[in-house]
Amino acid sequence: MPAPLEHKPVLSRQVVELLEPQRCRRIIDCTVGLGGHAAALLEKADPSCRLIAIDRDERNLRLAKERLSGFQDPAGDRVRFFHAGFADIQEVLHQAGIDKADAVLADLGVSSSQIDDPQRGFSFVSDGPLDMRMDPTGDAPTAAKLVNTLSEDALADLLFDNADERRSRQIARHIVRARQVQPITRTLQLVEIVRNACKRHMRARINPATRTFQALRMAVNAEREQLAALLAAMPRILEPGARVAVISFHSLEDGPVKFAFSSWKSAGCGRIITRKPVVPDDEEVAANPRSRSAKLRCFEWAGRIQTQA
Ligand SMILES: C[S@@+](CC[C@H](N)C(=O)[O-])C[C@H]1O[C@@H](n2cnc3c(N)ncnc32)[C@H](O)[C@@H]1O
Repeated sequence: MPAPLEHKPVLSRQVVELLEPQRCRRIIDCTVGLGGHAAALLEKADPSCRLIAIDRDERNLRLAKERLSGFQDPAGDRVRFFHAGFADIQEVLHQAGIDKADAVLADLGVSSSQIDDPQRGFSFVSDGPLDMRMDPTGDAPTAAKLVNTLSEDALADLLFDNADERRSRQIARHIVRARQVQPITRTLQLVEIVRNACKRHMRARINPATRTFQALRMAVNAEREQLAALLAAMPRILEPGARVAVISFHSLEDGPVKFAFSSWKSAGCGRIITRKPVVPDDEEVAANPRSRSAKLRCFEWAGRIQTQA
């Protein structure tokens, strides 16, 4: 039986405390997913507050729409849903007829509804097509396309740059050797190839394919470029006094967020609210092991708008 499509929002109470929805007129949830954070924010917000809900995954957007239906107004204006990526955020705001927001949330990465569905190809524990596109309707290449067409050097660079995989050259060599026998089309086929590539070094605490899957997912979905575009758009879309909160799950996500926040602070654009990132407590990690690597950072915009070229 397929796993139910669910996602437990991470650090939800802390997100609400930091973004203070009570004082917001407009909130943007850039990663609405299944609507968990959005619901928590709307619960505390004034009925006049509007929420722009964005996601690249149409199925998640549909699930969020159901989940948030109780907050909707009869005209369907209070919560508006947009199938879009971070890089399109200004176009989304244009379509929504607003130019700035009082709170912005980005909860990076993939949802459990995506990981737990083997047909999406994100999981290295159950077999499925090697896909990994958050937006299967777009023109991004699938993970299968990347592993079957990139040169050995390009594959090694991809694994190293997107996941700090120390065995990138070895794994790339095994991938190229395997695809000469038959195309690599399934998740567990790739897991087996990585396992063979790492056989001599395995200490088996984590699945040896973890970093390979992370790197491919990041590349397929251009996640670093999307995050850079989102951070670059912030100065143009934050109202004076607005807060932006970002939840990241590994250092290649957290690093750019931390860097952007300190650059904004140095430029006199506002203040960092979370001197250290907020992390889940033991109780949350026990209830939701996927939250264990989460880091939440929040910045308050002061109002000196500095548009970047
Ligand atoms: C961790 S989940 C968010 C879960 C959500 N906060 C909740 O409470 O249900 C991340 C979501 O962001 C979406 N996503 C990731 N990168 C994106 C991007 N660049 N643009 C738009 N959506 C993105 C994914 O499709 C996924 O639904």
